[in-house]
Amino acid sequence: MRSFHRLVLAAFPLITLVGARSYSRHFPITIGRPSTDGTYTIQDYYQGEDFFKYLMIFHLPSDWDFYTGSDPVGGNVIYQNKSAAQSERLAYVNSDGTTVLAVDSTSTVAAGGDRDAVRITSQNSYNSGLFIMDASKMPVGCSTWPSFWTVGPNWPYGGEIDIVEGINDQAKNQMTLHSGTSHSCTIDTDDSSEFTGSVLSSNCYSTETSDSGCSIMDSSSTSFAYGFNNAGGGVFALLWDNSAGMSMWHFARADIPSDLTARAPTPSNWGTPSGFWSAQTCDITDNFYEHQMVIDTTICGNWAGGAYSQSGCPGTCTDMVANASNYVDAKWVLNYVAVYQ
Ligand SMILES: *[C@@H]1O[C@H](CO)[C@@H](O)[C@H](O)[C@H]1NC(C)=O
Ligand SMILES: *[C@@H]1O[C@H](CO)[C@@H](O)[C@H](O)[C@H]1NC(C)=O
Repeated sequence: MRSFHRLVLAAFPLITLVGARSYSRHFPITIGRPSTDGTYTIQDYYQGEDFFKYLMIFHLPSDWDFYTGSDPVGGNVIYQNKSAAQSERLAYVNSDGTTVLAVDSTSTVAAGGDRDAVRITSQNSYNSGLFIMDASKMPVGCSTWPSFWTVGPNWPYGGEIDIVEGINDQAKNQMTLHSGTSHSCTIDTDDSSEFTGSVLSSNCYSTETSDSGCSIMDSSSTSFAYGFNNAGGGVFALLWDNSAGMSMWHFARADIPSDLTARAPTPSNWGTPSGFWSAQTCDITDNFYEHQMVIDTTICGNWAGGAYSQSGCPGTCTDMVANASNYVDAKWVLNYVAVYQ
């Protein structure tokens, strides 16, 4: 069921490029190296009143575009533009500085109809770095399909990195890389001591007809959905290191590293990641470049809808969408999103 998702994404590569600045793919690498002790420094920091505005930390204004095309994964949503999302209270900043990205939870729609939602894409793009999402809540519930991911141009050749993703009543976070088929990319399953999660599929090659990518399931029940929210949320981190590979961590609120809280993260001190895609078995630089971040929530669609009858969820996915009360908790509450170099 994910094939259709990727097929359509591949057919509309421009959707992720709206508002993008084009960099030569090596530009950010030259400005973005951690210090010799492995500590990263802030490049872009999205928080509070500045989340949807320009923010000049080092070199570039930072903002997000609201995607308004039809959902590439066939979900029962109508993605709203920025002004509509803000006036409908689907995208706003709370007085405590948290940023909310929500699904409409007040309107009744027809069974199988479409519900208003938001999908945002960073204007900045990146070729490496440490990507952080600190959320106190993430969208939960049967029929929902939330994700935080990054994607390059010309899918699958620019690659896709799914940092947070899951559907319906899934209890643990599923992390996935998608690569093109021109350069090697597999999970190094011979050395699974390098990560704590479980490999679901090890071949990252993705095509229009075979696009599940290479996935690792987090081992922690605080890494997704109700378990995540009940732990006070926490942090998801992607360390994209072109020499070493891709590492992902989840930290429940109580376990967030103090160096990250102090905005001087040193991921080499963070211990074994949940997921690791070694550069020994995946050509990182040729498979992943010019990635923009995406945060979205969709409903049903080819994965959440296609797998609905095998989930433990009641009724049908298309009936779920009609009932506004199913979406009261289908929202991201973000403390911040940051990119360090
Ligand atoms: C945003 O969406 C609303 C609702 O669909 C529409 O009325 C409005 O014209 C749109 N605004 C822009 C700037 O596109
Ligand atoms: C809507 O969903 C809620 C929670 O799932 C349920 O209790 C309620 O009966 C549903 N209402 C209708 C009209 O289906």
